[in-house]
This record gives sequence, structure tokens and C-alpha cells, in this order.
Amino acid sequence: MGKYRIAWLPGDGIGVEVMEASRIVLDRLGLDAEYIHGDIGWEFWCTEGDAFPDRAIDLLKSVNAAMFGAITSKPVKAAEAELVPGLKGKGLVYRSPIVRMRQLFDLYICLRPCKAYPDNPINHKEGIDLVVFRENTEDLYSGVEFGPVPAELAATLKQLSKPFAHFADLPGDQYAISCKINTKKGSERIVRAAYEFAKKHGRKKVTIVHKANVVRATDGLFLEEAKKVAKDYPGIQTDDANIDAIGMWLLKNPFNYDVLVAPNLYGDIISDLCAQMVGGLGFGCSGNIGEKLAVFEPTHGSAPKHAGKQKANPIATILAGKMMLDWLGEKDMAERLEAATAAVIKEGKLRTYDMGGSATTLDMGRAIADKLPAAARR
Ligand SMILES: NC(=O)c1ccc[n+]([C@@H]2O[C@H](COP(=O)([O-])OP(=O)(O)OC[C@H]3O[C@@H](n4cnc5c(N)ncnc54)[C@H](O)[C@@H]3O)[C@@H](O)[C@H]2O)c1
Repeated sequence: MGKYRIAWLPGDGIGVEVMEASRIVLDRLGLDAEYIHGDIGWEFWCTEGDAFPDRAIDLLKSVNAAMFGAITSKPVKAAEAELVPGLKGKGLVYRSPIVRMRQLFDLYICLRPCKAYPDNPINHKEGIDLVVFRENTEDLYSGVEFGPVPAELAATLKQLSKPFAHFADLPGDQYAISCKINTKKGSERIVRAAYEFAKKHGRKKVTIVHKANVVRATDGLFLEEAKKVAKDYPGIQTDDANIDAIGMWLLKNPFNYDVLVAPNLYGDIISDLCAQMVGGLGFGCSGNIGEKLAVFEPTHGSAPKHAGKQKANPIATILAGKMMLDWLGEKDMAERLEAATAAVIKEGKLRTYDMGGSATTLDMGRAIADKLPAAARR
């Protein structure tokens, strides 16, 4: 029995490979942990009709934290077509396990640090150090969706919403509705988490990202709640920006930003943009954090075109391991892991394909682990 119980969820595609590489690093650090494998991913959808089986849910109820690789998700019809014959036609509907996990365990904070490590040849600019706080349980990812649209819903919308007149005469099978649901509680707590982070880490500014000028009800609510929270942090500069404009500004003047906070979909988009500015998805790490559990993962997905080729860059997942160590309170290990990763990037002897080299996923994991010899003997 280790000091920590960690659920180990490799998932699909390159998720399996980058997780193997990250484990080499965690093992070299000597983290006193018991790692328990969990079944999650496409294989379990195809054979059991559930990509996130109950046994994986039960495992997550019994651990301190989890490391997660990546998941393959496909649209509803494509997913149905890949079910084993015995499960087809039973009304099973695919839903992304990671989205379900975030809701089920109320992992409301999606924390995505995006730091340009010095001398990474694919940095957009040296010195970028942004942190994205993405709301993780609601918004357009609430899962409340209708396609085809039921007649009762259309009739209600016709009564309640003038702009719905534009769609009201369409047959239900000619359109679909996804609900963007944003709550006061959900908005308040993610914004507060961003400000608390800024306060703790000496960050100077928080930018609230939204589209409240057009998406008035939901983004309007988010912005209003965010501005209330901002009043509690007079020492931290606050500004806000529309999601479309910030895409342009971030690329142009990344040093004008520090901590960014956004509803789920906008947070997803800007965190991919920020990851690209610090070397791409091979460097984007992510923590899904709730009050009782946190699940750490690379921002990227299962990248099927690279799966099984040992090409993927594991640094994002290794840095997700650093985030987990921070969360567990293992600050010294977290710092040493980050320093070892930065040293390998700076040295530039070993690079995966995305960095212009030909190192394998495992080579990169071993090279970072090899920067930690002292740790292994502690
Ligand atoms: N959290 C998750 O598990 C998650 C996140 C995003 C996408 N997905 C799923 O992953 C599957 C593939 O989606 P996608 O292709 O749009 O996105 P992706 O993130 O899997 O890959 C997009 C591209 O980014 C690059 N890339 C990603 N990770 C890399 C790495 N570690 N090293 C080097 N290059 C890397 C590759 O060029 C890759 O083709 C889909 O089924 C999607 O639903 C899952």
C-alpha cells in the first residue's frame, strides 16, 4: 500500500503511450503511490455499450487522484455503428466519458497552465506564461440536447421566445437543439477559483472571457457573476473580452494576459490556442479539479493517426503528473519534475516529431527521468 491511491486510466490511442512515458518519470521520482488501472475508452463502448463502466466510476470513488490519457469520442451515429452486433438497436447513446466524469464527480475546475519552456523550438514566443480556468461541468457541454426536436419543446419555445419564430415551422427532424446552461453557482465558483489562484501565485490580472453582447442570457449571467467576484479581489487587475476578439489579441499580444477564466466551450477553445502558443498539444496539460477528487490529463485527445507509432510527445502528460504532485502537496517532487522537463527541452538533444525531431514517446519519458537520478536515491 502506497501513501496515495492513484487511478491510472490510459484510455485510447496515444493516451496509452503518453501515460506509459509519464509513469517512467513518476516512478523515477519515487512517488509513494499505488496505481490502479481503470477500464475506460472506446473498446468498452464497443463491447459493453459504456465507455465509462461502473467499475471505473467505483474506482474513482476510492482514490486520492487520477491520471488519465485520452479518449476517442465519435458522433452518435458513428458510435452506434461500432457497437458489437448484440448491442446495436438497443437505444444506447454514446456520451464522452471525460465529460460525464467531470459532471459525476463535480470536477468543476479545468485548470490549464500554458507555459513556454525556454528554447522550445516551437514556442510561438519565448516567455509566455498563461493560465486558463475553464468551467468544466455546464454551459454547452451540459449534455441537454435534442435532435430531432420534440414537438412539445418546439411548442413551448414558440410561446416563450420571439426569435424562435425563425425555426418554428421546421419539422423536428430538420434541426437540433443543444442547451447552453450556465448557473450562478457554477459561474461564481470557477471565477473565484481563478482569482484565488491569481492571489496565491502572485498573478496580476484576470481576464473574463465571454460573448455577453450576443449570448445575453447565459454569458450575461457569467459576466455579471464574474464581476461580483472580482470586487472581492481589489489587488488583482480585472478585464473582460469577447471570445472572438481574444483569439486575435492572445495571438498578437500574449504578454497582455495572465489568468483567463471562461465558460466551458470558450475555455476549451482558448486553452487549445494557448497550448499552441507554447509548443502545441504536446505541451498542454490539464487538471480537472473538484472538492474531493482531481483527474489530471493532457489537453489533447487520442490522435488516432499517431496511435501505436510511438510518435506522440508525452510532455503534456508528464506535466499533468507535475500538476497532480502539486495537488497532492508534493511540491518538491513537482518542482523537480518540472525542472527535469525544462532541462530536456532546453538541451534540445532529444525531440519528438512535433518539435522537429524523431525521438519516440518512451525516449522522451526516459530522458526526463534520467534528469532525476538524485530523486531516485532519496
Ligand atoms: N480529453 C480527451 O480525451 C479528448 C480531448 C480532445 C479530443 N478527444 C478525442 O480524440 C480523438 C482525436 O481528436 P483530434 O484529432 O481532434 O484531437 P487530438 O488532440 O487527438 O489530436 C489533434 C492533433 O494534434 C496533434 N497532437 C495531439 N497530441 C499530440 C502529442 N501528444 N504529441 C504530438 N502531437 C500531438 C496531432 O497532430 C494530432 O493529430 C477524437 O475522438 C476526439 O473526440 C479526446
